[in-house]
Amino acid sequence: MVHIETVTLNDKYVKGFVENEELAALQSFVEVAHKNMHTKTAIGSDYLGWLDWPSKMDDAELTRIEEAAQKIRETANVLVVIGIGGSYLGTKAVNELLGSSFGFNQTEIIYAGQNISGKYMEELLTYIKGKNVALNVISKSGTTTEPAIAFRMLRTWMYETYGEEAKERIFATTDKTGGALRKNVDANGYTSFEIPGDVGGRYSVLTAVGLLPLAVAGVDIRALLKGAEQAEQELQSVDLSSNAAYAYAAYRQILNSRGFSVEVLASFEPSMSAFHEWWKQLFGESEGKQGKGIFPASVIYSTDLHSMGQYMQNGRRMLFETMLRFTEDQQQTQIPFDENDEDGLNYLTDKTLHEVNMQALEATALAHVEGGVPVITLDVGKIDAHHVGYLIYFFMKSCAMSAYLSGVNPFDQPGVELYKQNMFELLGKPGYEKKE
Ligand code: PA5
Repeated sequence: MVHIETVTLNDKYVKGFVENEELAALQSFVEVAHKNMHTKTAIGSDYLGWLDWPSKMDDAELTRIEEAAQKIRETANVLVVIGIGGSYLGTKAVNELLGSSFGFNQTEIIYAGQNISGKYMEELLTYIKGKNVALNVISKSGTTTEPAIAFRMLRTWMYETYGEEAKERIFATTDKTGGALRKNVDANGYTSFEIPGDVGGRYSVLTAVGLLPLAVAGVDIRALLKGAEQAEQELQSVDLSSNAAYAYAAYRQILNSRGFSVEVLASFEPSMSAFHEWWKQLFGESEGKQGKGIFPASVIYSTDLHSMGQYMQNGRRMLFETMLRFTEDQQQTQIPFDENDEDGLNYLTDKTLHEVNMQALEATALAHVEGGVPVITLDVGKIDAHHVGYLIYFFMKSCAMSAYLSGVNPFDQPGVELYKQNMFELLGKPGYEKKE
């Protein structure tokens, strides 16, 4: 495989907060966690299927996904992706990062089932009226209430609008056997795709969960997978000085142990906003258990320098920051020269927006370090499918390592159950009646 410069960790703004000995002390723990992960003997190892997924994904299945996506692109100008959590956040993240901030490629992707808002659903139904619509309902368990309600409502709308042809426009992505969604698929003959049993929701964006809607959106899903495959191969080293994903995990845990319990992911690229949400779910749901975990937060700069910047600089000191820097200037957008220079900006005319943005990053990092905020910098080559695939895998692997270093299972989410039980009880779901 051709080597492409992808993700590197720059530690110059975190060095002052972490001793070399602290990193060295974690090395042996990293080695044990790595070995357990790769021999699939670690806690939660039933859900380690994502680890070698990029290299093992079946080409025939990939082709089937591409063919279904092509069919959707030909028949629909709107694809409604129904799902919650890991069943939609990865798609939204990649689609918004690789797509345009204004407009869309050919078929627009919109989302449902990630809330139970009547306002949102009514607005969505109004929006799709008169448009050519397809559905992709995604649920691994096939039993999650929010997407199940949305699917029932949208399925009803589809049959009312298209009659029996609705069946050709509904695509399901779910577990091979279990769950109500699988029953629905089997009963109605919808085209379906499988979520591997050993890949959990928040680690599933590189499976059909993300690949089908992303292919519809026009993303080069083969390049996305190739990028992830490069990461799979490169992030095998146990040495903290040569594996940036593990170094990132180690820095996070050391900072956490020193009282920096909130991590703020900062990007200087507005189209990273949904990616931040995917990242928050990945780390929040993987690490936040047993009274442990680093609270994941995020900001988009410069925008948030004028809202959260004050807190970052002078607020309570429990924050560390991870800055994502896309290094290549892909647009080379020049600031124009103005003869009169009333706004005094001519001193910038030999620079591109990217160069100014990167100086804003440097200036912010310097200021925050001075204000007592450790800053880890992750340099990413550029914004394209290959690098985004790499970055996704990078974060999944660092997240798993970080969770193992803190002694928790990265792949369960026992805390998500309690609200569901309470909701079922309050709504009177059969079998969940309130006990006297
Ligand atoms: O990461 C996870 O496992 C969760 O966020 C799930 O993706 C989310 O709860 C949705 O579950 P499901 O796909 O079973 O409907």
